[in-house]
Amino acid sequence: MEKLEQILNQGLSAFEAIDNPADLDQVKSRFIGKNGALTELLKGLGKLSAEERPAAGARINEVKDKLEQALAVRRDALREQQLQAQLAKESLDVSLPGRGTGRGGMHPVSRTLERIEALFHSIGFEIAQGPEIETDFYNFTALNIPENHPARAMHDTFYVDAQHVLRTHTSPVQVRYMEENQPPLKIIAPGRVFRVDSDATHSPMFHQVEGLWVDEEISFANLKGVVQDFLQRFFERDDLQVRFRPSFFPFTEPSAEMDMSWNGGWLEIGGCGMVHPNVLKHVNIDSEKYIGFAFGLGVERLAMLRYGVNDLRLFFENDLKFLKQFN
Ligand code: DAH
Repeated sequence: MEKLEQILNQGLSAFEAIDNPADLDQVKSRFIGKNGALTELLKGLGKLSAEERPAAGARINEVKDKLEQALAVRRDALREQQLQAQLAKESLDVSLPGRGTGRGGMHPVSRTLERIEALFHSIGFEIAQGPEIETDFYNFTALNIPENHPARAMHDTFYVDAQHVLRTHTSPVQVRYMEENQPPLKIIAPGRVFRVDSDATHSPMFHQVEGLWVDEEISFANLKGVVQDFLQRFFERDDLQVRFRPSFFPFTEPSAEMDMSWNGGWLEIGGCGMVHPNVLKHVNIDSEKYIGFAFGLGVERLAMLRYGVNDLRLFFENDLKFLKQFN
């Protein structure tokens, strides 16, 4: 009996001392398992006299029940403790203020394109578009750049296959538009163009805006007026001047490079000229009756000057610190 009381007390305090449910099973087997202390006592019952045996047996069972009860209570307590600890660790404070939603903004190049389109539209130019994967024919041949012409080497072309290129300029849109429409024609064609080139002032993808005006009496003077008016309004400078320098493009004759006055000097901003009769011939427009001018401007160039950006690559790295300044 004394031994029994001892086991009971030892068991109760052993359970109390355990602080996680897994260890509890080990301690349990020490007291009430198959080889536990109580089982040992039960085995000894046979040595007792027939009168003593029932009381001793009953007492052993009582102790076993008590230990099992204590075990269950302890196990519940430990599980509850574990649960509370986990809940505390994973708790979400739903009353904390949220992260908020940041407002996005338009990309500076998109903004510039929209501005260009709005300004030309206001003086009667339609907006035309063409594919970025262009055939060799539209990108070169129809623009009076025949196969093996050295002018093809001036364009560092991305070839898609033998017949297709990533368009190197927006000029092919002129041809596509003239195929579908009869003069008078007055369009701009803004869009992406691609060249094998990459440094602080060249990106393999950039934007141009093409201009084309074909009618019965169009002159270089109209070209100069349109471009100068556009640039003055684009940069909000009434005194901005445009000058032409003689140049060469296969699809215009005569051809010129356009400069604009900027901070006391001149900056090149694109090419232009009177549409070459061969280009008109390709699209069945009578070059005896119609004449037109065309020009091509670099969009990133205009965006850099307007926003004071000194490295072209900033436009395409998508660094939020840069982009956020245009919100
Ligand atoms: N397509 C030329 C280029 O990318 C730019 C250009 C020059 C366009 C003269 C024109 C033009 O329409 O008349 O270098």
